This record gives sequence, C-alpha cells and structure tokens, in this order.
Amino acid sequence: MTSEYPQPATDTSTSTAAPAPQPVAQPVVQPVEEPSPWPSSTAPVPAVPRAETAHDAVHGAADEAAPEAREGRAVQGQIELGPQNGPTGRPMPVFPVPAPLEQHGPARVISMCNQKGGVGKTTTTINLGAALAEYGRRVLLVDFDPQGALSAGLGINSHELDKTVYQLLMERGTDVREVIRETAVEGLDLLPANIDLSAAEVQLVGEVARESVLARALRPALDDYDVVLIDCQPSLGLLTVNALTASHGVLIPLECEFFALRGVALLVETIEKVQERLNPALEVDGILATMFDGRTLHSREVVNRVVDAFGDDVFHTVIGRTVKFPDATVAAEPITSYATNHPGAEAYRQLARELVARGDAA
Ligand SMILES: Nc1ncnc2c1ncn2[C@@H]1O[C@H](COP(=O)(O)OP(=O)(O)OP(=O)(O)O)[C@@H](O)[C@H]1O
Ligand SMILES: [Mg+2]
Repeated sequence: MTSEYPQPATDTSTSTAAPAPQPVAQPVVQPVEEPSPWPSSTAPVPAVPRAETAHDAVHGAADEAAPEAREGRAVQGQIELGPQNGPTGRPMPVFPVPAPLEQHGPARVISMCNQKGGVGKTTTTINLGAALAEYGRRVLLVDFDPQGALSAGLGINSHELDKTVYQLLMERGTDVREVIRETAVEGLDLLPANIDLSAAEVQLVGEVARESVLARALRPALDDYDVVLIDCQPSLGLLTVNALTASHGVLIPLECEFFALRGVALLVETIEKVQERLNPALEVDGILATMFDGRTLHSREVVNRVVDAFGDDVFHTVIGRTVKFPDATVAAEPITSYATNHPGAEAYRQLARELVARGDAA
C-alpha cells in the first residue's frame, strides 16, 4: 500500500539518497515554487549592520535600508515599533509583557515542524514552553519524536516509564491525563515519548482515521492548558501528519545556514495537504530563524533571504547561536532557568511575547 504522504525519515540534511553533485560555490537551483535562499547572481545582498554581540543580534541593530513594507502583520496599528531595526532587517516592534490570564484553556496547539534535522525544534519547544510558563501560561509539551530528546531535555527518563505517548496513541482507553508528567518548571507539563513511538508510525497505518489519532487523544487535556507545543521528529511521515492534524498552528524553525530553505517547499506542500484534507483551520504561525550569528555575513544573508521569501511570516525574534543551549540540554533544564539572564533565555522570552502579541498564543 502506498502512502499519500511523503515517506518517513526524510531528513534532507542527512539523506543518503545522493543528490546530483553540485559545485561548491554554485547556488542550488530550487524548484519553481520554492524561493531560492541565495541570489542567482552576484548582486549584493542588502547590508545589515554588524551585531557585536549575541544580545545585539537578538535585540537588533540599526538598518536604515530596510523597506517599510516589511512591517509585521500584527505591528500595524497594534504594537508599538521600537526605534531600531531588528536582526531580520525590519523595524523591531516592542512586544509587551503578556497580561496575566484570569482563567486557563482551551489551549492553542502549535507544532514545531521541519523535516530537516538539528534545526532547533526541540530547543524551541523546551524554551518557548518554559518562557510561556514564566508568563503564567499553563503549557503542555508533547514529545512526538521517538528519540525522546524533549523528555531527556527536561530531565525525564522516558525509557523507564510505563505510559508514554505511544500507549496514548495505540492503547484504546488510555487517558491523556494518566500520561502527562509535571516538570521541574512550574506550569510546564510533558507528555513523554521514547523509542516505542517509532513502532507507532508503522502501526498507525492500519488504524481508522489514522491521521487524527493524536488530535483525539489530546482533546480531553486541552481545557487544562493555554498552549500545547508538539515537538515533531525530522520527518514528514504519519506522526508529523498527526501532529499537524492536531494543531491550530505550525512554527517552522530554520537554521541560519546555506541550505536552510531546501525542503521547505515540501514542508509547505505537506501543510497544505493537511489543510485541504484533514484540518482546514491549520495556520502557519511563523518561521523562526535559529542559530543566528549576527557577526557573520552568512547568517545575515540567510535571514534576508528568508524574509524575502516569507515576508511577515518570519518572526522578528531570531535565536542567536550559543553553546548555552547544548549546555542547558546536558543540565536537563530550559535555558530560562539554567542561565536565566543569558541573551538566549531572553530571546525565547521575546519569542513568547511576540507569539502572544500576534495572537498565536493566549
Ligand atoms: N540557538 C542555538 N545555538 C547553538 N546550538 C543550538 C541552538 N539551538 C539548538 N542548538 C543545538 O543544536 C542541536 C540540535 O538542536 P535541536 O535538538 O533543538 O534540533 P531539532 O530540530 O530538534 O533536531 P532533530 O531534528 O534531530 O530532532 C542540539 O545540540 C542543540 O543543543
Ligand atoms: Mg528534536
């Protein structure tokens, strides 16, 4: 039986299906519908001033050349613009601290999705979740990757657990509330996963309404939370389709590197198929530039290309590259508690404020 979905385990960064050899200095020719990450000529990329520190990179440095047409969609008429342009080359809005919530739920569900590996999906899930929890939101993180990196990153040894997201999907009668674990961060809960989940990808194929198993399983918990973040695996297979079917929004982390936009057309196609066939309400919440180094022309060029391609869908917030993220993973903590004053922690707090200001989270 052939699947109508792209096959699982499509990690374009590590795929062994060898693409036609490319001369190193030559830009890759993209499919028509996929904007090329690089100029096809040697035309100069608009200059973005050097950000001296990761903090500058996150908070922005002046760029007089940025067109006003790039103002963010929520910015117009609603959010005050700061005096400087941000790292994406657009005027940097001031995102206010979210007002406290008087009551919680129902949750908005957001999938972190990119079939490319190592782009910051798990790091974003943990740290955005922790930042939203700091702002008083009740947050559920869903580990939807059999590698269990999200669970491990929060200090939960999921290999020892009787009930994980696998049982939730595959064993009828399992209540989501039996599977949810509290984390060390107040207001932040986890639906853990381990390697068992890899079997679900195959076993789900024979299920009735196989694409909406996660959506149904999560439903009883939605009223208890303000935001649910799903950490997808680097694949566009049936598990990721389940995540998209269960979601209101998709957040696409993109690493600031040469081939960042490769494969995004396939991801967008998958999102559109899910919108057409399974979940018409699904929205792309935004593209998040990660591992940004404002000192390199390279990072700035990538961000310019991403903004050219996706405009206001690109978050104003970018996440700087810093070793504090892997350090925090080793410590099994979000960066917001591991290095609370670090610019990386502040970047995820800003992303949380931006998400709320855009209306993508409560
Ligand atoms: N902004 C950053 N700066 C430096 N390192 C980072 C940053 N974000 C993530 N990393 C590190 O890069 C590696 C990959 O990040 P992460 O696990 O979040 O990516 P992922 O998209 O979830 O990967 P996978 O597709 O394998 O699940 C990790 O070691 C993480 O600590
Ligand atoms: Mg991951």
